[in-house]
Amino acid sequence: MTSRFRAGLVATAVIGAGAVILTQSAAFAGTPSTPAGHHNPGQDTSLRALAAQSGLRIGTAVNTDALASDDAYRSITATQFSSVTPENVMKWEVVEPTQGTYDWSAADRLVAFAEQNDQLVRGHTLVWHSQLPAWLTAAAPSMSADQLRAILKKHVIDEVTHFRGKIWQWDVVNEAFNDDGTLRDSIWLQKLGPSYIEDAFRWAHQADPKALLFYNDYNIEFTGPKSNAVYALVRDLKAKGVPIDGVGFQTHLDTQYPLPDLQSNLQRFSDLGLKVAETEVDVRTTLPVTPVEQNAQVGGYTSTLQACLAVRSCLSYTVWGFGDAYSWVPGVFAGEGAATIYDENLQPKPEYTALQQTLALGAGTPGRNDPRR
Ligand code: G3I
Repeated sequence: MTSRFRAGLVATAVIGAGAVILTQSAAFAGTPSTPAGHHNPGQDTSLRALAAQSGLRIGTAVNTDALASDDAYRSITATQFSSVTPENVMKWEVVEPTQGTYDWSAADRLVAFAEQNDQLVRGHTLVWHSQLPAWLTAAAPSMSADQLRAILKKHVIDEVTHFRGKIWQWDVVNEAFNDDGTLRDSIWLQKLGPSYIEDAFRWAHQADPKALLFYNDYNIEFTGPKSNAVYALVRDLKAKGVPIDGVGFQTHLDTQYPLPDLQSNLQRFSDLGLKVAETEVDVRTTLPVTPVEQNAQVGGYTSTLQACLAVRSCLSYTVWGFGDAYSWVPGVFAGEGAATIYDENLQPKPEYTALQQTLALGAGTPGRNDPRR
């Protein structure tokens, strides 16, 4: 698993970002910091208020259990972010635990929360190799291609139809490539061949013609075989008239790896006429965190946000959860963590301040070119 997310940064790459932070810190110096999760109507320095100044949506993945049980988590979700992504509750294993019996309850509650708080929703995710229901993984190997295609089509159409009009961006196909640029050997590829990808986009578009439809993946932040393969795929899909609107760059970084050439990558996808988004940003490091590592984490958040702000088609910047106690990282990468912008007690870290300052600097950058704004 440790080789899955290779993109990251080194401390030396932070020097430029550090200069940005020093320059900007004066703007906040005379202002008592607004307690995290609380609006100060006089001078709103929440992430969402600052992001609005450049038309950018700032989002977070949401752990819906924490949303229900942790008041501070709920307050921060509502007040700091202008977009939400369900971390797990729109995935197939959650919405159809038994074949033919849907359970939308957790996802519906999150969509209602988003509506109450004037937030847009990124739907995540329709077609993936992971978190499939057990009934499907058990039965798929003995199904015919036609049977499996019919099941996939029903899933995509039923889920997109259920949420029609309520989802801003759908991650239609997630993580279809290996790091070497070959297609992942999932049940979808094995049984249906590569055409499952364009089929999924067509079905999703049929069910909600207004939703923006994204291909989403990790390790495509830097130029290389995987990023090039995704680029070739989406260029071909566009050329064929497949209804794809954008590409999501997950952006799971690690301080032990170099910073990706993210801005130029975002730009080349944008030049194909596509929207782009950073969809799952976090910056993990080895524990305990040293000051040098934390500087590198600050640099990772700063530079990835700067990249999005610099590309007009970058519609949203989403962190993959906030609060180190709720992060997926320690469960997957032994000895690593501290990847989010709030600490274990939901206090904002320097990474949070770096996003604030970068957004403040970005105010006045060219507006996003989302046609629905
Ligand atoms: O809900 C069950 C619970 O009933 C059970 O008792 C418990 C026991 O382990 O597991 C719970 O499910 C867990 C689920 O999260 C919900 O909490 C799974 O074990 C756990 O594997 C799952 O992890 C999620 C992971 O995707 C699965 O691949 C993470 O929360 C989630 O952050 C992560 O998100 C992915 C994106 O969707 C795609 N990109 C990469 C990203 C990070 O891996």
